[in-house]
Amino acid sequence: MTEAWRPDDDDDQRRGSSGPVRVRVPAKVNLHLGVGPLRRDGYHELNTVYHAISIYDELTARRGDTLTLTMEGEGAGELALDDSNLAIRAAHALAGYAGVLPHARLHLRKQIPLAGGLAGGSADAAAALVACDALWGTGLSRDELAGIAADLGSDVPFLIHGGTALGTGRGEAVSPVLARPTSWHWVVAVADGGLSTPAAYRELDRLRDAGTAGTPLGSTDGLLGALRQRDPRVLAGCLGNDLQDAALSMRPALADTLKAGEAAGALAGIVSGSGPTCVFLARDAADAQRIATEVQAAGVCRETRVAHGPVPGARVG
Ligand code: C5P
Repeated sequence: MTEAWRPDDDDDQRRGSSGPVRVRVPAKVNLHLGVGPLRRDGYHELNTVYHAISIYDELTARRGDTLTLTMEGEGAGELALDDSNLAIRAAHALAGYAGVLPHARLHLRKQIPLAGGLAGGSADAAAALVACDALWGTGLSRDELAGIAADLGSDVPFLIHGGTALGTGRGEAVSPVLARPTSWHWVVAVADGGLSTPAAYRELDRLRDAGTAGTPLGSTDGLLGALRQRDPRVLAGCLGNDLQDAALSMRPALADTLKAGEAAGALAGIVSGSGPTCVFLARDAADAQRIATEVQAAGVCRETRVAHGPVPGARVG
């Protein structure tokens, strides 16, 4: 028996997926975040090593007559769901690039904290690109999607790829790093409230102008070497973040969070990206669980979670 033709059954729909497409996308931390000078375009030159960890947002895309976004979970009710949302902008950007109508019903289940320095908004944009590509059957390569992603935000291309990767330029130029297939174990201390990324970069410029910022991290060579072996103590000695001084200056209480991780026996603790989330490196999964419980009990953050990395970027399934 042949299926009946339906008037809305256009070419794109036949090429794409008729059912819902579910995409899981991870959070990121920067194992090394070297911030260079302010460029003429308002961005800073970066020398960073991105690392995708097992805290995920999930985006489901369904067929629709317009483009809509709904959400549940972390920050629901706080995030605009209109054209200013990065996931909606991603769907428009893909549709424009591929020459299709931007019609989809997007639903986000968020676990990545908002404005936490874990690239939650960028993750949702990456998820929307991958989900709509499958829904609409546009069939772009990961590199093509990463090209569209670069216009949406500096971290978005990395979240298409995932894993552990070097980021240069303003962070959008991503290349994989040679690393041993090791899983690293992390404790993620989520703060109350977020920090603005542009404000953190501005604060770093201010501290540098005043001569009170720390010495810039410089090259990623030490960290890249540490990723080629398996000892978390070696990796711990190579973690660093030039934005940490800025985050601490804007939120001095983060010093207590970092101290609590150290007191609980973490191998190292750093502010993630522009903060205020702090991440701690543990020896193994059991150690991470123990540190998470202790840091939580110290009352220095909203909540702690355990995570491992590296994990893949935005993927259907
Ligand atoms: O690229 P994205 O839109 O995520 O960046 C947000 C803001 O963070 C930028 O507008 C800029 O103020 C700051 N930023 C920066 N240098 C970078 C990346 C981001 O100054 N390399």
